[in-house]
Amino acid sequence: MLVLKDVSKSFRRPDAEPIDVLSGVSLVVPPSTAIGILGRSGSGKSTLLSIMGLLEAPDGGSLELDGVDVRPISDNAAARLRGERLGFVFQRALLLPSLSAAENVEIPLLHAQHVPIGRTRRQLVGEALERVGISHRAKHRPNQLSGGEQQLVALARALVRQPTYLLADEPTGNLDPATGERIVRTLVSLTSDPPTSVVMVTHDHQLAALLHKRYELVDGRLREMT
Ligand SMILES: Nc1ncnc2c1ncn2[C@@H]1O[C@H](COP(=O)(O)OP(=O)(O)OP(=O)(O)O)[C@@H](O)[C@H]1O
Ligand SMILES: [Mg+2]
Repeated sequence: MLVLKDVSKSFRRPDAEPIDVLSGVSLVVPPSTAIGILGRSGSGKSTLLSIMGLLEAPDGGSLELDGVDVRPISDNAAARLRGERLGFVFQRALLLPSLSAAENVEIPLLHAQHVPIGRTRRQLVGEALERVGISHRAKHRPNQLSGGEQQLVALARALVRQPTYLLADEPTGNLDPATGERIVRTLVSLTSDPPTSVVMVTHDHQLAALLHKRYELVDGRLREMT
C-alpha cells in the first residue's frame, strides 16, 4: 500500500508570500484500486502526485510505500524505488519520434538492472503492449498512431517494469471524450493481474466515475467524494 499521512507542502519565493499547497493530506492507496484525484486548477494535484511519485519531497508528514517509510531515504534509493515500483503517465505521451512503439516501450528496460528471471526484454515489451491492447501497432512510429494509440503506448512504457503503482497526471487531457474513456477503462483493467494500483488526476467527473474511488483536493486537503 501507498500511505500518506498529514503531508504538507508549501512553495516559498523570496519576493512573495509562501503558498501552502498541501496542508495535511492523508490517503491510503490499497492494492488493485484505481483512485481519482479531482480539484480545481492550482489546487495541488500535480504536486501531490509528484510527492507520491518520490519526485518531490514533502515538507511534513509521512509517506510509506509497502511498509517502508520513504521520507528519510537517499535520492539514489528513491530513484531505484521509482524505477522498480512506480510508473508514470502524463497528459502528453512524450514518445521518441524516431522509434517504433515497441522500441519506445523498451526504453525503461535499457537501464534496468534486472529483468524478471526467465523473461527477455522482448517478451516484457510484448506483454506490456498486450496488456493495454496495442500489440497490433508495435512496429508503428508515433506519427503513424492516433493520439489515443500514442497514449496507450505511453501506458505500456509505464507498465513494462511491472510497477505496483501507476501515477497518471491528466492522461486524457489531450483526448476526445470517447478516447479518454478508452484510456480510463484500460487503466481500471490494469488493476488486476498483476495487482496494480492507479492514481489518476483528472478534471473530468464522468471519467472519474469509472474509477473505484474519487477524492477532491480542496484547500490543501483531500476529501472523499461519494
Ligand atoms: N516548483 C514550484 N514553485 C513555486 N510554486 C509552485 C511550484 N509547483 C507548483 N507551484 C504552485 O503550487 C500550486 C499548485 O500547483 P499544481 O501544479 O500542483 O496544481 P494542479 O492542481 O496540478 O493544477 P492544474 O489542474 O492546473 O494542473 C500552484 O499555485 C502553483 O503555482
Ligand atoms: Mg496539474
